[in-house]
Formats: sequence, C-alpha cells, structure tokens
Amino acid sequence: MKGLIISGGKGTRLYPLSYTRAKQLIPVANKPVLFRVIEMIRDAGIDEIGIIIGDTGPEIRSAVGDGSQFGVRVVYIEQDAPRGLAHAVKIAHDFIGDERFVSFLGDNVIEGGIKDLIRQFADSDWNSQIVLKQVKDPSRFGVAALNDDGSINHLVEKPADPPSDLALVGIYMFDSNVFTACDSIEPSARGELEITDAIQWLVTNGYTVFPYVHPGWWIDTGKAPDMLEANAYVLNEIEPTIAPDAQIDDDSEVDARVVVQAGAQIINSVVRGPSIIGEHTVIKDSFVGPFTSIYHNVTIENSELSRCIVLEHSRVLNIPQRIEDSMIGRQATLKMDTRKPRALKMNLGDYTRLWLPPSNG
Ligand code: G1P
Repeated sequence: MKGLIISGGKGTRLYPLSYTRAKQLIPVANKPVLFRVIEMIRDAGIDEIGIIIGDTGPEIRSAVGDGSQFGVRVVYIEQDAPRGLAHAVKIAHDFIGDERFVSFLGDNVIEGGIKDLIRQFADSDWNSQIVLKQVKDPSRFGVAALNDDGSINHLVEKPADPPSDLALVGIYMFDSNVFTACDSIEPSARGELEITDAIQWLVTNGYTVFPYVHPGWWIDTGKAPDMLEANAYVLNEIEPTIAPDAQIDDDSEVDARVVVQAGAQIINSVVRGPSIIGEHTVIKDSFVGPFTSIYHNVTIENSELSRCIVLEHSRVLNIPQRIEDSMIGRQATLKMDTRKPRALKMNLGDYTRLWLPPSNG
C-alpha cells in the first residue's frame, strides 16, 4: 500500500498563526500535526508517501525533506490551487499507480494509530474504507447516513440539515476505482471536487465501501479552539520524560505527567501536567498549568499560563493575570510595562485576535 497526505490549503481559519506558517506544521504537544500523520502512516507499515502541497509547499518540503528522518520515502505532488480533495487524489494517480492506498488529511489528529484499520483494508477486497465519527456539529463536515445493517445509505458534504451525526474523518482508503470516481464527478457549490462525492459515486455504482465508526477522539485542527483541544488530547497520551540535561531547581515543583525536553530550565516554578516544556525553554518564577505546550527557546518569567500553546522564541514576562486557552505564535512578546501612560499598548499582527476580561467595577 501507499500513503497520500493532502496538505495544501491556506488554513485561513487558523489565522494569524497560519498566516506565516503552513497550518499542518503548527505543533501539537511540540510536534507538527503533519509529522504525527507521517508517523501514523509509517507505523502501519507504509514507506512510500506522496504529499499534496499547495502555496505552503516550500515550507512543507523543507520541514519534511525526503522523509528519511521518519524512515519513509516522500515525494511531493503540486496542486496548483485548492480544487478539492478528489482533485488532489486525481493528480496523485501517477504516484499511486494501481496500488491500494490510504489518503490522510494533513491537519487531522486521531486517537491511537490507524495501523489495524489499514492492515484490515490491505487484506480485504473492499474498494474503499471510510472512517466515521459521531460529532455534535455534523454540518461542518461530510456526513454519512447508514442503513440498519451498518452499510452506507448515502453521503453528503456539509449538509445544512444533516441526515445523521456521523462525520467523515479525513482518513480514506481506496483501490484504483477511486480514480474513475474522481473523473466522473462535477465540482460542488464551493467549486471543488469533493471526495465525499467521489465516495458516493462508488456507492451508487455498486462498489464496496466499508464504513468504520471510530470510538476514540478525532480533531480536525481547523480553528484555534480545535488546536487547543487536540493539544489537550495528545498531551494526555504522551509518555512523561525529563531530558538528562534539563535543569529543574529544588524550588520548583514538576508533577509526574510532564515532558521536559533537552536543555530546558525550570527555576522556582510550578509545572502541572499533562504538559510539555520545549528544548532550551526557560520557565522562571512562573506557573505552567495542565494542557500546555511550550515550544523551543521560549522564556516564561513571573507569569502563569494554563491550557495554552506557545511557539518558539516567544517571551511572556511579568503578566499580572493568568493566561488561559491561548495560542501564542513565534517570536511574540507579552510583557508588563510599568511606564506611563498606564494603557494597553500593542503591536498586533494581521488577523490577530485579543480577548480581554471585563475590568472590575
Ligand atoms: C474535508 C472533507 C469533509 C471531511 C473533513 C474532515 O472538509 O471535505 O468531508 O469531513 O475534511 O476533516 P474541509 O476540510 O475541506 O472543509
């Protein structure tokens, strides 16, 4: 089997973080989502992976390279514009050839591996397997209606009136009949060739499409709150470790569910897990609460953060209120300023959002 990761798109819903960085490269628990996807496919025994890239292609190429850092071979396939997931599959035809393959969206994070699922499909004679998940807001996704015997009745992309609460997770397995399906469908109302329509075409034309309902968690990291939620889930699963050269002084309290990466320093601070402190990051006179990922070379001083993602080379200094549920990009500075005027002073990037609590009284 081969793997296909679809990693084009601009990620506008994740602005401003995805304004300057491919959304698939934003880390969750200090590892880019795309790297997690590559590792998951590799762990299912697949070593040939094609990555569909768009505008952010150069950044993805430089981060992933030829795949050898993951023990796989990666080739890149350029999509000239976001023309839909079925279009992405279509342009991968030369790379896939006649093999069975798994197609994975580069911004999806899912609990556990997909090893068993992929092996099951590899050994079956099904034409396709799709992964479904019960969700609260199905209209955001492709939705499947099942028959009483569990087979697919029909599929519909982002319906205003969803026929069920089963969303299509961004993991699809196909044999080469999907290429005929992708050639037979028309663009949707949003002008894209929808993978949901291609799968519907397979169902209508009598091919076997096997639905699997995933019992664990799944997050499409489309927006900042999804990213924070995925971060919390992944942190819950990671193995706590303290790098041998990390420094934690006697005045600090680091609980059992924390990862402290190489060269990090924790001074007179409290760190509650599950959380991760990145390489060469300094946490001084501060509190880092649960579900927080602080990336590499960050400085946190005399401040409190909880359920946050902080990216590399940022600084949080002397902030008087606790920061929660926040994403802070690269090279950002948040600090208290004691000079007059006593006012909020900011230098915010494009598409930035700032939420302030109401002042007392
Ligand atoms: C795409 C698919 C949709 C699927 C979702 C999963 O949506 O079109 O069917 O449920 O991925 O992440 P998009 O990300 O293009 O809005």
